[in-house]
Amino acid sequence: MSGRLVVEGHGTLDVPEGTTLLEACEDAGVPMESDCGGCAGCNACRVRVIAGADALSPRLDEEVPFLDQDDQRLGCQCTVVGGTAHIALDPGL
Ligand code: FES
Repeated sequence: MSGRLVVEGHGTLDVPEGTTLLEACEDAGVPMESDCGGCAGCNACRVRVIAGADALSPRLDEEVPFLDQDDQRLGCQCTVVGGTAHIALDPGL
């Protein structure tokens, strides 16, 4: 099964279920940053979920310290579970 990821300004990606947003963006050449190598240690991979939050895995406790708002996720911790999610890259400083 697969899902779709619409990345604001970068197009639509078909993504196998269970793929992280970071993996999907790296595979597609979308410039999502990753200062910690994808281990929930920075907020460079942060995204804002514009629509389709139910197409994404539930928020993990490890993400919370790096998020300022309810509609944000860490791209390295969040996976596609099916359906279509619309996100925008929103790295923290
Ligand atoms: S790449 Fe650092 S938290 Fe995701």
